[in-house]
Amino acid sequence: MGFSSRTPDDLSPNPITEVLGRLKSGSFLDLTVSNPTQCGFEYPKDLFQGLNSPQVMSYEPDPFGNMMAREAVSGYLRDKGHRVGPSNLLLTASTSEAYSYIFKLLGNPEDSFLVPAPGYPLLDHLLQLDSLEPLPYSLRAEPNWPVDLNEAKKLPRANTKGLIVVNPQNPTGCFLSPNEQTALLNLCLNRQLAYISDEVFSDFPYPGHGLAMNPTSEVLSFRLGGLSKSLGLPQLKLSWIAIDGPKNLLSDCLERLELIADTYLSVNTPVQLALEELLRFAPNFQKQVLERVLRNRSVLEESFKALAEVKVWPAQGGWYALVEVQKKGVRDDELVIQLLEKQGVFVQPGGFYDFQSSCFLVLSLLAKSADFIEGVRRIHDFLNELKN
Ligand SMILES: Cc1ncc(COP(=O)(O)O)c(C=O)c1O
Repeated sequence: MGFSSRTPDDLSPNPITEVLGRLKSGSFLDLTVSNPTQCGFEYPKDLFQGLNSPQVMSYEPDPFGNMMAREAVSGYLRDKGHRVGPSNLLLTASTSEAYSYIFKLLGNPEDSFLVPAPGYPLLDHLLQLDSLEPLPYSLRAEPNWPVDLNEAKKLPRANTKGLIVVNPQNPTGCFLSPNEQTALLNLCLNRQLAYISDEVFSDFPYPGHGLAMNPTSEVLSFRLGGLSKSLGLPQLKLSWIAIDGPKNLLSDCLERLELIADTYLSVNTPVQLALEELLRFAPNFQKQVLERVLRNRSVLEESFKALAEVKVWPAQGGWYALVEVQKKGVRDDELVIQLLEKQGVFVQPGGFYDFQSSCFLVLSLLAKSADFIEGVRRIHDFLNELKN
């Protein structure tokens, strides 16, 4: 019996996963942690009260999501400066599922979508699961990691259905500039591509930065967000898609999305009933995260200031930091294994995100500050030795 090509042929663990499998959990500092529920943030005790309301007993599904819940998301986005009415919002169980609905809406097997490279590998997996192909466009290794627009313009094929941006990008932490957004929207307009904007980290801008809003109603657009990042509650399973576009396309698009969502009806009732109340916690959570992320980032910058061959890339938002080790012959995957085995600290190799040149490490800035400070000290000491 054969399996479909939606899952990879080779499922064997990579060398880093093998090393991790041999180590006892708790025997190393994990600076890859991206699950906010494990990072010591304070969640109010009564936060989940709304999940227990008597209405939870009645099941009245709406493929787009309960109207009150959509109104709550609409209000939340309006407070952030993004106007979208509840009838242009679709709720999903996760951002990954949101992508999958959009892929099912737009792509036939073997069609392609433009994806940023380097970037979070989730997109490749999601595309593969829907029998679609990633068509990578480059982000240039320069300040702000700009899109290589000349390259991007040449890439779309006849079967390319959409362009995906992650804003701010994971892991570079850079927002698209207004000019880049305009150029990419023009590309979508000229080549009849949908614009899919993953904005899950946009609630965490560093001072002086943020999401640049551009009117997109000439282009069919999908903006994604959700509770896994905005509230640090991935276990609640609620995300959203804000949909906009030219009138003639939009109503057809909504009707088809309704059909897709109606087939799964995957968003649970309790979270939808509690959503308005849950979202009130967002400013508190986002403040805690931003304080942690900025404090950890300044520890990182300070620690590596004196090491000429180590560069901490500046960023504009999000949960991650990018460290480049500019030393000939050092490979990211080998370095990650050495750091794990010799120093007891775990970071992600740049190769995981498809950084092609040089040696990059990706650190999560969500880690508890004491762990982060100690982990960075161990990395510093190792790289300092390597230098000599
Ligand atoms: C850029 C980006 N988009 C989407 C997701 C998936 O989010 P969700 O947990 O809502 O599926 C992640 C997960 O970390 C992510 O980094």
